[in-house]
Amino acid sequence: EHVLTYDPGFQSTASCESAVSYVDGEAGELTYRGYPIEYLAEHCDFLKTAQLLLKGEMPDEREAAEFRDLVKHHTLVHQQVSFLLNGFRRDAHPMSILVGLIGALAAFYPLDPDMSEQDQHRLAAIMMLAKMPTLIAMSYRYSVGWPINFPDNSLSYAANFLHMMFALPVEHYEPPKAAVKALDKILILHAEHEQNASTSTVRLCASAGANPYHCVAAGVACLSGPRHGGANESALRMLMDLQKAGGIKAIPELIRRVKAKEDGVRLIGFGHRVYKNYDPRAKILRGICHELLDEVGVGKDPLFALALELERIALEDDYFVERHLYPNVDFYSGILQRAIGIPTPLFTAIFAMARTAGWFAQKNEFLESGDIRLARPRQVYVGEPRRTL
Ligand code: CMC
Repeated sequence: EHVLTYDPGFQSTASCESAVSYVDGEAGELTYRGYPIEYLAEHCDFLKTAQLLLKGEMPDEREAAEFRDLVKHHTLVHQQVSFLLNGFRRDAHPMSILVGLIGALAAFYPLDPDMSEQDQHRLAAIMMLAKMPTLIAMSYRYSVGWPINFPDNSLSYAANFLHMMFALPVEHYEPPKAAVKALDKILILHAEHEQNASTSTVRLCASAGANPYHCVAAGVACLSGPRHGGANESALRMLMDLQKAGGIKAIPELIRRVKAKEDGVRLIGFGHRVYKNYDPRAKILRGICHELLDEVGVGKDPLFALALELERIALEDDYFVERHLYPNVDFYSGILQRAIGIPTPLFTAIFAMARTAGWFAQKNEFLESGDIRLARPRQVYVGEPRRTL
């Protein structure tokens, strides 16, 4: 007998048991497989973090090197994928293109029917981690009309992405070290976050037995929403609007409108369903912003100064204090990506690239749990009782 409880937004319903990551919202702490995010950002790179998430244990040097080689082996995408890309409008949003291209990977890379479902998904995890940067860079270069760059497997994961994005055949390009480091940290910090909306979407798809690439396409579609991954883009746009409206002088008016809930306006990059304290990822990103902006010489990005001031004012305001609204991961990630040179419409795609690790870790955990049950939420029916004309 199941007792039906109504829980809009799943505020108090656990959809699964998971050992992948843990958010302590009160303390403002995040761990992947038990390792604090601060430790991982300091001591690991993205691929090592991805391997930790997938495997459950920190890889040793030999395992990490093997995994790196495996990923490098799959960085190219089928030539036909570029024909598919050519069918998109050049001004299409990269997230729309990504949903399409990733969904299509299921057709380009059919699963081996002799493999178990679990092994199919394990291999797809490596293929997807490898191809995600290639697909994102392809869609960017298509939008600006540049020829597509092949991956350079001699580079690290983050450096190769920057190479595919920005290298032109006419001049030498070396991904700036500070930008590589910052991007790598952004990827680590976005790699996994419990049962958020996109991860739950991916798990739900997997519960139906969907193809692994289709599961990821669904996750990317969900992530594109401005209340989820799309918030980094919206946060930066909010700061740009604020800058246009007068910069620091315009902050009190924005705060007034937010508090009055005028037109439902919210401070984007603030507040979180689980964190009722400072999001630890935002704290690390704020630190990297300082470092990168100093190093690449754009220390005077007015948007960073604006963000710091907005944060200071909000954190002293009763409205935000009472509601436990602190900066979340999206508040500083846009400024940082801008400093790296990543165009605003690609911000959420970078988030998707990172979260691919978490989506696979979670989905594969479910598929390997021995309890593959179709997820089928119930409802509280509030429509008409049975009737006829
Ligand atoms: N600005 C102003 N007021 C806010 C904000 C905000 N950013 N967030 C929440 N509130 C208020 C809200 O109006 C409500 O007030 P009241 O009690 O007077 O009705 C109260 O705080 C509780 O809000 P809620 O919507 O019930 O809280 P939630 O846990 O459902 O919201 C959230 C979480 C992330 C949707 C929300 O904080 C929000 O809309 N933030 C802005 C968008 C954003 O930054 N999203 C990124 C989330 S983190 C990245 C990710 O996980 O993908």
